[in-house]
Amino acid sequence: MDLEPVITAAFGYVRDLLGQDSGGHDPEHALRVYRNTLRLAGAVPGCDRQTAALAAILHDADDHKLFHTENNANARVFLNAQGVEPEMADRICGIINSVSFSRNRGRAPETLEGKVVQDADRLDALGAVGIARTFAYGGKEGRGMEDSIRHFHEKLLLLKDLMNTEEGRRLAEERDAFLRSFLEEYLRETGEI
Ligand code: NI
Repeated sequence: MDLEPVITAAFGYVRDLLGQDSGGHDPEHALRVYRNTLRLAGAVPGCDRQTAALAAILHDADDHKLFHTENNANARVFLNAQGVEPEMADRICGIINSVSFSRNRGRAPETLEGKVVQDADRLDALGAVGIARTFAYGGKEGRGMEDSIRHFHEKLLLLKDLMNTEEGRRLAEERDAFLRSFLEEYLRETGEI
């Protein structure tokens, strides 16, 4: 099945579903993860570009931070309405479910598509966009800036060593370096160093 029309429809779907989010899981995040996925998939032989791309756009459609759905209900209802066969929907949901760090307790995804989409999502947690998203999420959850700074140390600075693909690691290193220089300047301005 050619998934290209489903991919196009998925942009509209997440625009409606995530359009109200102010905590860094907005439709623009889905779009960036999609773009990162295409870039990484091109460098990973054997990775199915279309399933990875579709999983990338839908990866937050049932995120437990945002929704209380079971068994990827949002993604499944959308895919079913698009005429995607149940086996393909299972595959796409399997990729989505392998991407979340907390859900898998740090275990790496088994499929190439899962590895690519996970890297693509992690790249969006690093660099200038990663910084902006961290503070946006913290603010939405009512947390202070120091909590967001702690999140950099507890999670974001670990990501570059957890990347699955070579190209993902290379891009993560660039964005990680930017993050570290931001933190250094932050500490300087707050008088902590
Ligand atoms: Ni995400």
